[in-house]
Amino acid sequence: MTELARQAMAARQKAFAPYSGFLVGAAVETTDGAIYTGCNIENASYGLTVCAERVAIWKAISEGVPPGAFRAIAIAADSPHPTPPCGACRQILAEFAPQATVTLINLQGVTREFTVAELLPESFNASYLR
Ligand code: THU
Repeated sequence: MTELARQAMAARQKAFAPYSGFLVGAAVETTDGAIYTGCNIENASYGLTVCAERVAIWKAISEGVPPGAFRAIAIAADSPHPTPPCGACRQILAEFAPQATVTLINLQGVTREFTVAELLPESFNASYLR
């Protein structure tokens, strides 16, 4: 298992998911080799829940990592088939980590790998605003 996947697995243990019971961890690696982790954080007002992927990206951005400076993200969850990122997180990845390799991993160590473009083809992005 890669170090990034290991850190996603470890971050999953920190998930606050009392409503769904579904724990997710994520770890993003920057082009400098730094790693930021995240877990899903739920709220009694369910719609305020944030996914593990976004927490990891927000932590990195809030520490000064420039948008686009990510080379990989690993996402860990307990599902028979490795859990893919939700639609909202795909949009965030398309804007902040378009070059990142996305590795999904479950607790049995089964992995799947995608590009962000494979997960969200023809994505809306800032170029359309100009
Ligand atoms: N969740 C994530 O954190 N990432 C995903 O890729 C899929 C879903 C979370 C959100 C919610 O806390 C729980 O999993 C169930 O949807």
